[in-house]
Amino acid sequence: MPLFRLCADELWDGEMESFDAGGEEILLVKLDGEYCAYQGACPHQSTPLVEGDFAGGVITCRAHLWQFDARTGRGINPQSACLKHYPLRIVEGDIYVEVT
Ligand code: FES
Repeated sequence: MPLFRLCADELWDGEMESFDAGGEEILLVKLDGEYCAYQGACPHQSTPLVEGDFAGGVITCRAHLWQFDARTGRGINPQSACLKHYPLRIVEGDIYVEVT
């Protein structure tokens, strides 16, 4: 299973950033000191989620305002939507994402 190191040193709590991990666009979010990695493209029409808004633990796509819970990736609006979640490992302060 390929592991990719994400250079997230400058990601502040409450921020999100996108990374290329072997051709996969990954959205990394940091909330309450915890990191989560999701697919970078909106499941609706593939707009980069990093161009949207991240506030109150909610990721909002800029295109049509679909919303996702940043802690789980589950859709808030619509509830049927969901972001693909990528497992993370933190080794000596470095963040690695597993991309299958
Ligand atoms: Fe994200 Fe439509 S592309 S809500």
